[in-house]
Amino acid sequence: MKNEKWVLKQRPMGKPNIESDFEKISEEVRKIEYGEILVETQYLSLDPYMRGRMNAGPSYASPVEIGGVMEGEVIAKVIESKSRLYQKGDMVNAKIGWQKYEVLYENEPSISKINTPKDLPITYSLGILGMPGRTAHLGYFEILKPKPGETIVVSAASGAVGSIVGQLAKLMGCRVIGIVGSDKKVNYCKNELNFDYCFNYNTQDIDSELGKLGENFINMYFDNVGGEISDAVLNHIALFSRTAVCGQIAIYNSPTPPMGPRVARTLLTKQSTMQGFIVFNFAHKYEEAISDLSNWIKEGKIVYKEDINEGFNNIPLNFMKLFESENFGKLVVDVRS
Ligand SMILES: NC(=O)c1ccc[n+]([C@@H]2O[C@H](COP(=O)([O-])OP(=O)(O)OC[C@H]3O[C@@H](n4cnc5c(N)ncnc54)[C@H](OP(=O)(O)O)[C@@H]3O)[C@@H](O)[C@H]2O)c1
Repeated sequence: MKNEKWVLKQRPMGKPNIESDFEKISEEVRKIEYGEILVETQYLSLDPYMRGRMNAGPSYASPVEIGGVMEGEVIAKVIESKSRLYQKGDMVNAKIGWQKYEVLYENEPSISKINTPKDLPITYSLGILGMPGRTAHLGYFEILKPKPGETIVVSAASGAVGSIVGQLAKLMGCRVIGIVGSDKKVNYCKNELNFDYCFNYNTQDIDSELGKLGENFINMYFDNVGGEISDAVLNHIALFSRTAVCGQIAIYNSPTPPMGPRVARTLLTKQSTMQGFIVFNFAHKYEEAISDLSNWIKEGKIVYKEDINEGFNNIPLNFMKLFESENFGKLVVDVRS
């Protein structure tokens, strides 16, 4: 049996180039031994953090090696088993990256049986009931510590993480202002997610739009993007505001970090905090987060949008959608075709 996998051919300078930075290679799948399983990928989650893994240098996780398979979490089917823990036909989440098959030892910590409720799509285990959902829940409750009636700004507000944060804030009685990159996404945030306001940073001046809503009025900022959008938001923070730095996608493709305003004086005068966080440090809270999110979806209190694309060969092309504002909802690839 042949495996196919997408490997990192070279480290990108700036925005990844599909032709020169990725390579699809094929190799034999080895036979499984006692205690092992062979899994076949069904769906691959594509996430912004993968761009960071393409860079060398220090980060919170090791980079993908040149020639190494691109990192990522998948939904896979067990197609052969010599394990007492997994049977043929079991569906699992596994961090096996951008590839079709993998042999795994049964106690590999990155595999787990999928326990998504039967009435919800299995792909939710890569999104709202997986890493992005946990990030939204834990970033919102643990880092921002919201109070009813407060105002929150969420950037990348229609995306996998942002759309959940904004809806959690509405559920908790907060006023929500979203920032997105298209009018289609503005309409979605206002009409489907019930955000109070939403602005398109490509056609509107975020600094002046926020200025029209009041002075020093933003109690919480859930920052998914960084860059100039965050510079504009921070001009309007309230006394004792909290900013959760979740992501900086606006600068992930910058070869050198761009210089922006120095925010320390704003934080000082507004006696405000800014805290970065990585979801993996909240593993002890995962169960609680997933249980809340699962209940709220089933009760119709939260809606969730997926952007499912087809084709193993199209993985790099789809990955780039994250950086071109082209994904609309949680980006997933159905790799069975
Ligand atoms: N800290 C953690 O543990 C953790 C965990 C998961 C995710 N994250 C971070 O959370 C953020 C959102 O991730 P996600 O999975 O929910 O992705 P997503 O929002 O579903 O997709 C990425 C979105 O980012 C926006 N974007 C892309 N380039 C941009 C730019 N130059 N300026 C402004 N916006 C830009 C686009 O939305 P628009 O069309 O609205 O521009 C794009 O659709 C990312 O920064 C990610 O790295 C962090």
